[in-house]
Amino acid sequence: MSIHQSIKRMTVPQLRACKGQRKIASLTAHSSVFASLLDEYLDFILIGDSTAMVAYGLPNTLSFTVEQVAAHTAAVVRGTKHACVIADMPFGSYQRSPEQAFESAAFLLAQGGADAVKLEGGEVMAPTIAFLVKRGIPVLAHVGLMPQHVNTMGGYKAQGLDDETAAQVKRDAMAVAQAGAFGVVLEGVAEQVAAQITAEVNILTIGIGASAACDGQILVTEDMLGLNGAQVPRFVKRYADLAGDVKKAVERYADDVRAGSFPESSHCFGVKPKTK
Ligand code: KIV
Repeated sequence: MSIHQSIKRMTVPQLRACKGQRKIASLTAHSSVFASLLDEYLDFILIGDSTAMVAYGLPNTLSFTVEQVAAHTAAVVRGTKHACVIADMPFGSYQRSPEQAFESAAFLLAQGGADAVKLEGGEVMAPTIAFLVKRGIPVLAHVGLMPQHVNTMGGYKAQGLDDETAAQVKRDAMAVAQAGAFGVVLEGVAEQVAAQITAEVNILTIGIGASAACDGQILVTEDMLGLNGAQVPRFVKRYADLAGDVKKAVERYADDVRAGSFPESSHCFGVKPKTK
């Protein structure tokens, strides 16, 4: 048998071939157990740096590290066999130079087992994207609202609502496409701008708050499952109220424990009587 095991996962070229054929469905994950539940329904799973906020309770994504992303990526890879797995490059792990970006991205592929990486930035990051792609690292770019730019943007602000930012988002998307990215996340981008970009670039556009005009969609899983508190961005549709279900289940468990009605005898081990 070949040393190269047959790949059953969705590959990056297969993802890209969906452009104009069918929509791409994707979500974030950071644990094996959740990833295994999502796997069969999705084209790709992103280990987003939003993990810093949803799993670690941090106020933003900025302090997440490449080692943390790699560990969560490895967990997601272990829990899945169908979806393509894409690891987010955290703040500070790729902006300094193309060489720094290569080292971080190679670590996420080699140690995390990711199939591709995602990084934020348009025109400015285009040379870095070209550097990575030429060296065998598939890149999903991310433009529009870039959470790692929260301090320069002065908050999480939708982009492309005026002529100036619309023109910038378009230039950014064109630049990453020319640099060789296989797709671009459009976050918080005005519908008309997302539609124009999707029509003009030959790579996938994955929307989050950028309308159904995009080639595919992504959301943070905790947001769409109703696990992430009461406040979610307006572009999130809640498909479940898992927080409510979890709270009800835990309340019942705590009541049972306090009432002495859990565990029951069926949950207990007994000493077997000796056979003569
Ligand atoms: O970190 C993240 O979760 C993202 C989004 C695109 C979902 O970047």
